[in-house]
Amino acid sequence: MDMLVVRGGHPLRGTVAVGGAKNAALPIMAASLVASGTTVLHGVPDLVDVTTLSHVLRSLGAHVERRGDAALAITVVDQQPCLADYELVRRMRASVCVLGPLLGRRRRACVSLPGGCNIGHRPIDLHLKGLRALGAEITIERGYVFAKAERLQGADIYLGGSFGSTVTGTCNVMSAAILAEGTTTISAAACEPEVVDLGNLLNAMGARIEGLGTPLLRIEGVNELHAVEHTVIPDRIEAATLLVAAAITRGELTIQNVCAAHLAAVTDLLRATGVQIEFQGSTAKIRSTRAPQPVDVTALPYPGVPTDVQAQLTALLALADGISVVTDKVFPDRFMHIPELMRMGAGIRREGASAIISGTPRLSGACVMASDLRASAALLLAALAAEGESVIRRVYHLDRGYERLEQKLNLVGADIRRVTDTAENIPESLLLSMDDPSAPSIDSSDTPPPPKFLKHAEARSSAIREQ
Ligand code: UD1
Repeated sequence: MDMLVVRGGHPLRGTVAVGGAKNAALPIMAASLVASGTTVLHGVPDLVDVTTLSHVLRSLGAHVERRGDAALAITVVDQQPCLADYELVRRMRASVCVLGPLLGRRRRACVSLPGGCNIGHRPIDLHLKGLRALGAEITIERGYVFAKAERLQGADIYLGGSFGSTVTGTCNVMSAAILAEGTTTISAAACEPEVVDLGNLLNAMGARIEGLGTPLLRIEGVNELHAVEHTVIPDRIEAATLLVAAAITRGELTIQNVCAAHLAAVTDLLRATGVQIEFQGSTAKIRSTRAPQPVDVTALPYPGVPTDVQAQLTALLALADGISVVTDKVFPDRFMHIPELMRMGAGIRREGASAIISGTPRLSGACVMASDLRASAALLLAALAAEGESVIRRVYHLDRGYERLEQKLNLVGADIRRVTDTAENIPESLLLSMDDPSAPSIDSSDTPPPPKFLKHAEARSSAIREQ
């Protein structure tokens, strides 16, 4: 297992490019199951999640081949398999995106339920409600969703839930309804750009979907779809993470391959914290010179501030000049990064779905543990701004969703090393000694003498916890 060793305090300066959107690439890859011929996708980032879904697609009879750095060619060679196995699905819940395409094209699907998730409760009841409305017979047995239908029938479906619309749920129902008989309407559909990108791909394949990007989709079923070539949209979450990286290090970045419209909520918020952002075509320029002003943030479905940027913004606001409130209405329990940021000196109190952040002028480097993908990005950002060295463990979460992020950041001035997660690789500066003049003094009158050295103790005990 790898960990990142980060030496903080370097303002980022230079030019960096964003890759294709993970959250668009995954449902689009899954949708290639509905088409005959070879679907060629450009701008598919080289990520662990993409590799996992490639395995799922292979297990479902597809030939998946990487072409160069950023293209993927997918050809279905066997229409018979319909099982997405637990061993693969548990590694990445977005594997559930194969459910709709399988049901639409092969009329049966057996897809493992993904199980628990570190960012909170994530049911797929709305996916199943939508597919049932199309006429699918669905049962859950032995941890799997079994779905079948003779021919799906168009229907009027309301897909809203207690936490708003569902992104992958909309993708699943849309990918099935395109092959249903008759007309389907989906109201309270997700409006995220990634859903629109999938819809555009499906329309290019011959589907008839209207209303993409609005909460009301109207879909006329067709009988067959043909493979096409498609370029995945830029990753707005990676772009937002890089914008925050410039803001938190008080740097100046030129960020290429961005879509300004997709970033409107994030840039509006960042400007309110005091940074300057300008767009020229698909390039953003950001400049930050001082401590952020505090702001209140609420993560909402698109076009609101994405929940996938909530943790990164929390890291930035930990350094604000005052009190900010960050609320997540999409995943109200998505706050696993808070205790780790507090290890770096952040002043944060959680109240329900909100984090109340009392900004501090400095963070200090520490050993921290990533709990999920965006939390790991938030910890990396905090470490870039912190004084001294930090270690970020369980960095495999980061690799699921960011392509070579530390390499990109190093090219614009960051100091990040990827090393094997062993006690020996913990930097000296993080190994406390009771002889250290900055260590707290202990009144030894009636307590047993403390161990002379705590060196390596923390590293060793967490190495044991990992086993
Ligand atoms: C997608 C993104 C993820 C992002 C999330 C919200 C992908 C691969 N992942 O996840 O990065 O954080 O959107 O923007 O695109 N819900 C239900 N029932 C359901 C489905 C969802 O109650 O059947 C709830 C969820 O628990 C959550 C909210 O609805 O509170 C939104 O979830 P959803 O949009 O479905 O997230 P994902 O599609 O899983």
